[in-house]
Amino acid sequence: MEKGENFMKNQDQFCNGLLRFAKEPVKNLDSLSDLESHTHYGIALIEHDYPGKTPAMWNAAYKHFGIDSAVAMMVGDPKDTAEILNTLKADPKYIGGGAGVGFKDVAIDFVDELDPLAKAIGAINLIQKLPSGELKGWNTDGIGYRQSLEKLLEQKRETLGNAKVVILGAGGTGSAVAFALAEKGAEIVVLNRTLEKAEELAHRINKFVGENRARAVGENAIAKEVLDASVIINVSTKGATGAFEAYSALAPAKLPATVENISENLRASEHIFARIPEDAILSDVVLRSKPSPFLEGAFAHGFTTLDGIPMVVNQGVEAFMIIHGKEIGTGDDVRSQLREIMQKAAKF
Ligand SMILES: NC(=O)c1ccc[n+]([C@@H]2O[C@H](COP(=O)([O-])OP(=O)(O)OC[C@H]3O[C@@H](n4cnc5c(N)ncnc54)[C@H](OP(=O)(O)O)[C@@H]3O)[C@@H](O)[C@H]2O)c1
Repeated sequence: MEKGENFMKNQDQFCNGLLRFAKEPVKNLDSLSDLESHTHYGIALIEHDYPGKTPAMWNAAYKHFGIDSAVAMMVGDPKDTAEILNTLKADPKYIGGGAGVGFKDVAIDFVDELDPLAKAIGAINLIQKLPSGELKGWNTDGIGYRQSLEKLLEQKRETLGNAKVVILGAGGTGSAVAFALAEKGAEIVVLNRTLEKAEELAHRINKFVGENRARAVGENAIAKEVLDASVIINVSTKGATGAFEAYSALAPAKLPATVENISENLRASEHIFARIPEDAILSDVVLRSKPSPFLEGAFAHGFTTLDGIPMVVNQGVEAFMIIHGKEIGTGDDVRSQLREIMQKAAKF
């Protein structure tokens, strides 16, 4: 394709056949003619289909602010990231978009420029096409999550500086959340199935904040670590739609998802719930149409809970401001309008 040529010729040709419209996100755009009818468009890239909120939130905001642009969520294979981004970059109508599940720590290697926080985290969730035509990577996930947790802590008259946070998972999202919370003084315990990944993350966080604020443990340390936890956050794929849907994040998840393996996980999880301080906040960032088994258990045991919706809204507000702040302004009134619109659009 020649530079500057619009590549969206027909459905089969989309991004050289490397991307398809996701089916699960409510109100996703589902045809190229829909996208082409706008002056500009953004693409949110994901590895597997799930009920993402990005199209509903961004398209509602475009409508409200009168911006002639639209976002579609598209499924692709992260191994094709270089070709996908090169193709999108060459299209004058493309303005950027999300790097979602599966693309966060891969796409970081294929953008031209990086925001320092995204660089430290090692993953991006937003790609911005700069006026020069180059692509810049950002990470607004952690800040978005932090805003939602700080609001809840404030209501309990607590602060991150006094909190022990156990983070279940060490992938792209776990990294973003852990960095953002450590930056504000929280003690971080990264608990992950693969211990080496947790160790590597804890090491990078400590280097970033300049002191030993994070440490790593394996899945079997959970019974001990929850005893004095202020916040427990699931950022793993346990409980997410797909193979792990029925598993609680508080215990190992053995596949295949047989009745026996799921029961074993839920039994072990019950044992852990009993050890968690009753004033702890239990949180799960996994997005699905009903609460994850971890959050369902947390409700049943009477804990304060935080799901993934406020994070998705806050990270969306930050991301929208990065791409469109110059057009709509960045004042508090515009921000709260945007938050309200995105929040309404993100409801299942
Ligand atoms: N609410 C929001 O705004 C929001 C934003 C972004 C993402 N999310 C959600 O966050 C979740 C994680 O996304 P991600 O991009 O960070 O994924 P990722 O980079 O692929 O990381 C997956 C994490 O899950 C762990 N894991 C996977 N299978 C496991 C198993 N059987 N047992 C134990 N641990 C397992 C992995 O552990 P290993 O290292 O051992 O493989 C890793 O820590 C997804 O469900 C996503 O939908 C929500």
